Amino acid sequence: MSTTQPRPAFGTVLADQMAIATYRDGRWGAHELRRTGAIDIHPAAHVLHYASECFEGFKAYRWADGSIHVFRMDKHIERMRQSARLLALPEPDADQLAAMVLTVIDRVRDQVPEPPGALYLRPLLFGTTENIGAASAPASEATLIVLASPVWDYFAGGAKPLRIYVEDEKHRTASHLGMVKTGGNYAAAMGPTLAARDRYRVDQVLFCPGGAVQETGAANFLLLREGHILTRGLDSTFLHGVTRDSLLTMARDMGFRTEERVFHIPEMLEWVQTGEAALSGTAAVLAGVGTLVYRDQEHRVGDGGIGPVTRRLRAALVAIQNGEAPDRYGWTRKV
Ligand SMILES: Cc1ncc(COP(=O)(O)O)c(C=O)c1O
Repeated sequence: MSTTQPRPAFGTVLADQMAIATYRDGRWGAHELRRTGAIDIHPAAHVLHYASECFEGFKAYRWADGSIHVFRMDKHIERMRQSARLLALPEPDADQLAAMVLTVIDRVRDQVPEPPGALYLRPLLFGTTENIGAASAPASEATLIVLASPVWDYFAGGAKPLRIYVEDEKHRTASHLGMVKTGGNYAAAMGPTLAARDRYRVDQVLFCPGGAVQETGAANFLLLREGHILTRGLDSTFLHGVTRDSLLTMARDMGFRTEERVFHIPEMLEWVQTGEAALSGTAAVLAGVGTLVYRDQEHRVGDGGIGPVTRRLRAALVAIQNGEAPDRYGWTRKV
């Protein structure tokens, strides 16, 4: 697809094959490959009432020689298993889930776009036990699906600096569930995000309940300047992003000091007078923030554009993902 043609929105196009497995009688059955399409689900299924579900999101990239490489799949599978445990869902078997992902990628390899596009992988796990009285009983039956989606740009407008609303009251999620990638967290963020978009024309909301900076609805948040990165330290309140981990690892090797700790809105507003701010995630990679809106006031981040440290780190990570720079970390796996 040429760069001048409009690209389908992120997640709206699905590859035509998916993998599916079911859990019953205390064990996972063999997975099968199917044409992507509707599945049967009973209206009493646990997930439809009690939101017993979690998912993952990561990418496979097409390199210049045509080969396909998946990025940090094992780390995403571990996070999915942790989400399942914390939601009392049957835990996917790591080897089986990896096999499902690799089989799907292999079967749809001709549908993997060229960079800056990629194939987005979306494992999905949900409780299927038929019981509408199981509000405090876990699902004993579940379905695991791996979907794939060719993707182009996540943020419409591409490399435009983002406008972010700083929310200091509402929570993105319950504090013990922030590290779980479950639909309910996105449902909780939806109302505040729509309201802020409507009122302040922002792209995303940065959740800072009680004034402590956490993350946005679908990405981690980093403050950057030459030689120094500040981001919240890992705790249960936010999702432990694989991109965040990759960027911090690379930055340390580039000589940066990486500080992971709790910090509050006043420190952030002071930082952005001269420093940079960015969102990190599989979809966004590292997206520069140009403006923070807090209590009806606009705070320009640096000169309002995408900063040089953000650009450099983003380019370094993208180069590994696309096979343009050596992967000294063992993050990429050929499919
Ligand atoms: C709430 C939230 N935080 C952070 C991230 C970033 O995580 P990762 O870098 O693993 O994609 C995501 C998803 O991508 C997310 O949904």
